[in-house]
Amino acid sequence: MPRILCLLPLAVCLLSSGCTQGDGADESAPGAGSGQPRWTIGMSQCNLGEPWRVQMNADLQRAADSHPEVELILNNADNDTLKQRAQIEEFVSAGVDLLIVSPKEAQPLTEPIAKAYRAGIPVIVLDRQVLGDQYTCFIGADNQAIGRAAGEWVAANAPEGAKVVELQGLMTSVPAQDRHAGFLEGLGDAGEIVFAADMQWLEPQARKEMESALARLEDIDVVYAHNDPGAHGAYLAAKAAGRADEMLFVGIDALPHEGVAYVKQGLLDATFEYPTGGRVAIDTALEILRGGEVPKSIELDTATHTQ
Ligand code: FRU
Repeated sequence: MPRILCLLPLAVCLLSSGCTQGDGADESAPGAGSGQPRWTIGMSQCNLGEPWRVQMNADLQRAADSHPEVELILNNADNDTLKQRAQIEEFVSAGVDLLIVSPKEAQPLTEPIAKAYRAGIPVIVLDRQVLGDQYTCFIGADNQAIGRAAGEWVAANAPEGAKVVELQGLMTSVPAQDRHAGFLEGLGDAGEIVFAADMQWLEPQARKEMESALARLEDIDVVYAHNDPGAHGAYLAAKAAGRADEMLFVGIDALPHEGVAYVKQGLLDATFEYPTGGRVAIDTALEILRGGEVPKSIELDTATHTQ
């Protein structure tokens, strides 16, 4: 009973107009002029602790703002898998027309997403995959290819037999697994991993792990972090230890105001672009809502940024 009560305000909010409606009205759009958006999209974002996710939400919102026929409701799961599961179930109970989920982890989010899909709600999985194929469309870049490009870059730019510290993203999420596997392929026998730790995508955790690596290892040629916050945390640890000049720092994401800025400032040596897919997700959602066909998987482009 308390659960039903707590869903009611959301349901009312979803069914009434103007909850988080965007501007930029297009008079010709379906639903325009009636004062009510025609479709409600619920989005469950796994966290908003990192600049990349803040950017994803901004990209989603900007894209939704140009479609008055759509109402976008952005919910933040605060990096809590159980909260994200509940959030998806609440969106389903509230009767959203389409669900977008950027899941924290693969396995525990697979079932609630599959349930929503089987209940007839189209689901777009954005950035981090779930298991199986019980969703409408997956949108993201090829993380294995990005990892491979990073490994090849290290093989070409680091000293022979490079000693690499790998700061991994959350290894229960697919991008971290793929960025790891791809990197090993790209690196080949040009270097070796001398220290690996799961920093869970978090800068403070990366800094702590890097402090352990520095305390244990005299020779480090490269730090490969699965995201730019991780690479930046490692850089700060190495700088504090007076050793930042001894090694190369490689990250992933390449936001203009984060990773690319770090490269320009000379803190990082390379970063590989990982687009948020916000606009593509909204375009794809509209295609689905209008009854169109969309591919099961949409691959986003990547790019390399170096000094
Ligand atoms: C943000 C983030 C990004 C990373 C992506 C992978 O939460 O850690 O930095 O590229 O997730 O899913």
